Amino acid sequence: MTFDDTRTRAEQLRKVLEYHNYRYYVLDDPEINDAAYDALMNELRALEAEFPELQTPDSPTQRVGAPPLEAFDKVEHARPMLSLANAFDIGEVRHWYERVCRLVGHDQIEWGVEPKIDGLAVAITYVNGRLVLGATRGNGVVGEDITPNIRTVRQVPLEIPVRAPRRAQEDLPPFLTDLPTPARLEVRGEVYMRLADFERLNREQAEAGEKTFANPRNAAAGSLRLLDSRITAQRPLSFFAYGIGILDDNVEIQTQWEVLGYLGGLGFPINPDARHFTNFEEALAYAETWMSRRDELDYEVDGAVFKVNSLALQEKLGYAGREPRWALAFKFPASEAITTLKDIKVNVGRTGVLNPNAILEPVPIGGVIVSNATLHNEDYIKERDLRIGDRVVVKRSGDVIPKVLRSLPEFRDGDELIWEMPGHCPACGEPVVRLEGEAAAYCTNSACPAQLIREVEHFVSRGAMDIEGLGSKLAERFVTEGLIRDVADLYTLEQARLEEMDGLGHKSAQNLLAAIEASKDRGLTRVLTALGIRHVGSTVAELLAGQYPSMDALMSTGEGELRRIKGIGPQIAESLTDWFSHEPNRRVIEKLRAAGVNLTSRRVAPQGPAALAGLTFVLTGTLPSLTRDEAKALIEAAGGRVTGSVSNNTDYVVAGDSPGSKLDKARRLNIRVIDEAGLRELLGE
Ligand code: IVH
Repeated sequence: MTFDDTRTRAEQLRKVLEYHNYRYYVLDDPEINDAAYDALMNELRALEAEFPELQTPDSPTQRVGAPPLEAFDKVEHARPMLSLANAFDIGEVRHWYERVCRLVGHDQIEWGVEPKIDGLAVAITYVNGRLVLGATRGNGVVGEDITPNIRTVRQVPLEIPVRAPRRAQEDLPPFLTDLPTPARLEVRGEVYMRLADFERLNREQAEAGEKTFANPRNAAAGSLRLLDSRITAQRPLSFFAYGIGILDDNVEIQTQWEVLGYLGGLGFPINPDARHFTNFEEALAYAETWMSRRDELDYEVDGAVFKVNSLALQEKLGYAGREPRWALAFKFPASEAITTLKDIKVNVGRTGVLNPNAILEPVPIGGVIVSNATLHNEDYIKERDLRIGDRVVVKRSGDVIPKVLRSLPEFRDGDELIWEMPGHCPACGEPVVRLEGEAAAYCTNSACPAQLIREVEHFVSRGAMDIEGLGSKLAERFVTEGLIRDVADLYTLEQARLEEMDGLGHKSAQNLLAAIEASKDRGLTRVLTALGIRHVGSTVAELLAGQYPSMDALMSTGEGELRRIKGIGPQIAESLTDWFSHEPNRRVIEKLRAAGVNLTSRRVAPQGPAALAGLTFVLTGTLPSLTRDEAKALIEAAGGRVTGSVSNNTDYVVAGDSPGSKLDKARRLNIRVIDEAGLRELLGE
């Protein structure tokens, strides 16, 4: 190969790697596997090592970060990065709308609405398609040069346009295709951290004894402003582009909506929930829906941004100080609040784990009164130095149990109490142990009534044996009044004895027994799920029931053989064999069998091995006879794929009762919607 050939190959590799990077990180739809990607990357690395002059700073090999800086250089923004005026209620939003109409002289205005992402604003400059500068907002006029750090963010293209077939995103402006390379482009957008990434990062930081972050925004900001970009490269940062600072190119862009279409077309990630409206009331209604739906997003939003769509009108409206008159942030109520930690109570979990819980002075957060919060474990409390009587910051996100984030020691008056994990189980009084290397403390008594109550609650739950009418209160009474000593005893309950129980009438006793009877035929998957064996949830149970025709077959399988099953790791295999080796557990199985509980798997053989090969399904709502996991297993067994969200790649949406927003989305995208019967038909049943 001549040097020219090598240079051409290096250029080609860069483009190809950027293409696959885009498919993986932006479209979430990789075309090649990791090994193939690594092979391409290694080839480029080898070329660059041999010919260092070929190594450009914006090469995909540089996504791993560069040697640390002493300090960041300052950069003056070519155009100031503005902030946004805030509105805190609908009245203020309308007020803004009216003023805009007045200034414009009419109300025939189009509106853009976008989620306000809680991250940090950046400006990224491309010259002749190459990323040359990344800057923070700073004070709006002068920011910091964080170019090496920005280059590590996988969703930020290093070279534009990314020549990839773009999957148009639902409801977004059609992405422009075959765009020329702009001579100069400054993109503006938000670097943020997804919730799942944030949780994982914090867990890893804690395990490594490093500092944890208070929220995803701080984690994103802290990660992006590290002098050592090699550490930034390890941090899971994401990016959404929402605006243009400078554009030297002769493309015609007249609206914010087209800005998004243009940026999407170049290869930037665009928020899929951005919309535009000709009617302000509709824009307002859309923004409002996000107030309650913000929990559906896998990143934090602190509001919705309204933008006048026309760029000409934007110019006409101009600025008031550092805030544009053409945009407004409609801030959502905070998801955090300050309250008093009144007490810490310990609950005993199903496996005997002691869970400390915060009893809080009730406080409204995001429209809900919060009076309890999780404290995870002893270390969580110690690390945060949470004391009883402290003022604490509580956060609620989504349906998850609220969390106590930190205490506010500046409010202490000296009466606060330091909490200790009790040495004895609050339910049975037996000693508590904490195993070396584990964060959790356990009650050592396997006959602890609190554990049995949790076991029963789990056994009867919907994804397990699904025994309707048996709630926590009854479970507790059955245990404390001595009616049951293990979960199998549920099948020995008698009408007369139930009727003797205070408050349980003839009819409800009868219904309960019928529900218990009906649960006998749920089959192996559900029984395995219901037993609550560590690491054996419904997915693993499904997998096992797909491999073994009966409980007996499973019980006689050695740990080594279990480990060889794809999807069963050493942890699960050990946990299973360990569980089956305990005499009381084996007794439960025998009692279930004697009671007539079906311990065999209902394996349904699909028509031909791959009736659904290559098809992608999304499940929503409750199906009449299949659980979600069962439906998933059937589809997968027939060669299909099940994903969590509807996109243009979805072939079928299987909808049951009370389907969620996925069904609406399927309809909008014109995707085939079928019911359980339809699915069975596809499966050839
Ligand atoms: S537009 C002049 N759009 O909010 C308009 N900003 O409070 C400037 N932000 O610094 C910004 N999501 O960091 C815009 N979809 C969005 C946004 C957004 C988050 C942030 C941005 C800005 C801050 C202003």
